[in-house]
Amino acid sequence: MNDPLEILMNEHKEVLGIVDDISSNLKTFQDSPAETTPQLKELIEKLDSEFDVHSLKKEEQGLFPVMETFLPRDEGPIGVMIGEHEELVKRFQVFKEGLNEGDHDKVMDAGSYITSTLRDHIYKEDNILYNIARMHLSSEDMQKVYDKLMEIAKEYQS
Ligand SMILES: [Fe+2]
Repeated sequence: MNDPLEILMNEHKEVLGIVDDISSNLKTFQDSPAETTPQLKELIEKLDSEFDVHSLKKEEQGLFPVMETFLPRDEGPIGVMIGEHEELVKRFQVFKEGLNEGDHDKVMDAGSYITSTLRDHIYKEDNILYNIARMHLSSEDMQKVYDKLMEIAKEYQS
């Protein structure tokens, strides 16, 4: 069976890999910011574009609309996840600004927010939201989500 949740969970592992790389670079950043800034710039671009396709497109346009037939957006976890997506995107920008301005506190603050919030966010999706999806979605629903994910992947080549 084509399992869209499996695809999304595998993408979470990729995102967590980038988050781990950012965390370890942030440790070095405190002592040698000049040497670490190029890697961090590269990593945040990678994270931003992964997050855009995975969270803002595949989840928000593929999975969530199908779940909203039984789980109203504003009354539960979907609304919370979307709120966290929005806040994370803002912090990605703050992090980039900090790197460009050489503002070390801004980089450290945004960096620690991004790494801790993303780990927690992905944990909640893997262990709560996707379990709710697995319990409620019919195999037709799953196929519908899968088809949408394939369409998005084709469009964004990810
Ligand atoms: Fe996700």
